[in-house]
Amino acid sequence: MQISSNVLDLPSFNFYKMKVFNTREEVLTFINDAKKKSKTIGYVPTMGALHQGHASLIKQSISQNSITFVSVFVNPTQFDNASDLDKYPRTLENDIELIKQIDSNIIIFAPTSKELYQGNITSKNYSFDGLEHEMEGKHRAGHFDGVGTVLDLFFTLIKPTIAYFGEKDFQQLQIVKKLVSKYKLGVNIIGCEIFREASGLAMSSRNKRLSPSARKEAAFINKTLLEAKKQFGTKSAIKVEEWVTKQFAKNKQFKLEYVSIANIKTLKPVKRKSKKQQYRIFIAAFIDNIRLIDNIALN
Ligand code: PAF
Repeated sequence: MQISSNVLDLPSFNFYKMKVFNTREEVLTFINDAKKKSKTIGYVPTMGALHQGHASLIKQSISQNSITFVSVFVNPTQFDNASDLDKYPRTLENDIELIKQIDSNIIIFAPTSKELYQGNITSKNYSFDGLEHEMEGKHRAGHFDGVGTVLDLFFTLIKPTIAYFGEKDFQQLQIVKKLVSKYKLGVNIIGCEIFREASGLAMSSRNKRLSPSARKEAAFINKTLLEAKKQFGTKSAIKVEEWVTKQFAKNKQFKLEYVSIANIKTLKPVKRKSKKQQYRIFIAAFIDNIRLIDNIALN
């Protein structure tokens, strides 16, 4: 997706005491110095609107590395829908506050699109050996090329020892592992458990856009996943998917985009269960026109 460079860029926030870099040059100088001192670098890529799920990734990075970098960047090339990009929450001041409360030594990188992409805001084309064609890939054209492009840029610049990703975007996590191994980017990728609200709703930056009643109702996704998990013990994957589809059809507040019970390695839908394979169930659904995704392990 081609986007003009001045759309929705973030302002500069260097007046905070903690390090908030806005340019590639600042990052390069810092990283070169850190590498000379053999520091390990943990990296948490984010699109901002940070929540406790992000905080848990950041804390894990702090516990395992000498330096932690957090990027806050709403990546235009991974949106297939201009209005979704437009409405994506942008809360840099709050994000900096939240990070500061975790640890004021964390380094934040919040570039503009023009700065990060050096004026050429387009995606590269990647092959992730078919992982990109399942689930999200079927519904969000070009999404994973955009994710691959931006992470390639960040990894090349920050040269992290370890990068941390949440399992809520499980397909993304598997694709990032593929990106790193296939394109030899030399980063260890760690997947971290989904952080949930008390209701079971998976934490997401998009939850900020839900009305209080939709936010309450959204717990229905996780409730349905948990019931599906119980049924998966005795029923076929197809039967469980059919049951989930029916539950969503009965709930008038939701529009189900897909439900898929898939092998965690290939992300392909399960035809026949095998005890040797691991499976997860994945859902994407709209409530109040806001797209939410969630998934849980089935075995
Ligand atoms: O998961 C996200 O927030 C984004 O896809 C990521 C990994 C920060 C890339 O823009």
